[in-house]
Amino acid sequence: MRQEQIKNPTLHFPRDMGELVTEKHVQYILSVEKRKDDFISVAMEYLRMNGAYWGLTTLDLLGKLDAVDVDEVVSWIMKCQHESGGFGGNIGHDPHILYTLSAVQVLALFDKLNVLDIENVTNYIAGLQNEDGSFSGDEWGEVDTRFSYIAICCLSILHHLNKINVEKAVSYIVSCKNLDGGFGCTPGGESHAGQIFCCVGALAITGSLHHIDKDLLGWWLCERQVKAGGLNGRPEKLPDVCYSWWVLSSLIMIDRVHWISKEKLVKFILDCQDTENGGISDRPDDAVDVYHTYFGVAGLSLLEYPGLKAIDPAYALPVDVINRIFFGR
Ligand code: FPP
Ligand code: ZN
Repeated sequence: MRQEQIKNPTLHFPRDMGELVTEKHVQYILSVEKRKDDFISVAMEYLRMNGAYWGLTTLDLLGKLDAVDVDEVVSWIMKCQHESGGFGGNIGHDPHILYTLSAVQVLALFDKLNVLDIENVTNYIAGLQNEDGSFSGDEWGEVDTRFSYIAICCLSILHHLNKINVEKAVSYIVSCKNLDGGFGCTPGGESHAGQIFCCVGALAITGSLHHIDKDLLGWWLCERQVKAGGLNGRPEKLPDVCYSWWVLSSLIMIDRVHWISKEKLVKFILDCQDTENGGISDRPDDAVDVYHTYFGVAGLSLLEYPGLKAIDPAYALPVDVINRIFFGR
């Protein structure tokens, strides 16, 4: 605690704020992994690669990644890869850039990027760039700034950003900027905190944050905090734990995080825990899921909650993993 106070002297975690039930969350994540054949797991089967990223990154942030069999995970991931170089959401599923990033992120967590045929994966991603600089998610062509972020994040992790036209990729993202300072999924699309994370993250990774009006965007983002302390993704929407990630990471990247109440947000996230069975929900008393458990824990990590590993706001991976990738330490 002393160390935390030195790191962030303005943030206090009084006891009545509640506590993160770390061990319960670890047990929850591990139990979801085992319940592969229940109804929800079957319904979510196509999302398994993303689920693996959310669950395993949560375990890593909680300091419990060693509870997982690395070889089993790596071998399953590699079975999800296609000849094209892209990854599917599960074995036998079509490849998509969404699952390709999750696969690369999980391999990075385990320091196993060396199992990849880097040329194959990076050719797949680069092949999804369109003439105007945008990215499609797969061969069917849907375009979205989420896919721009994913391509840039993935290629950066694999040290192959030179395979795409970065200048055009950046100018496409800038063309999705709105008068309110936010970003949408395509030019003219409504500002949405999830898309803002993607655009700000992509601009941060490519060293292009000067395209952002930080005060204007910071204002829109800090307006996302509601009375209860939680953050929403757009005006008039209910607060939701996952926006603790999308909004907070963006505020950090543009250096405006001091514009929201961190204490109130910590309390909101802690109030969304199932303190008996583990897991975090979107709002207090709702059903928990792995997605909100991850973004709740990741949000607390950004808020420097004691006992959690630090997470990088642009790459959405633990800082020690990022340091290993870029600085070899
Ligand atoms: C909200 O989704 C979130 C987004 C639109 C951003 C999604 C970003 C990615 C998939 C990029 C990869 C992300 C990471 C962290 C590596 P929603 O469908 O919940 O929105 P809603 O609240 O409007 O329903
Ligand atoms: Zn949510």
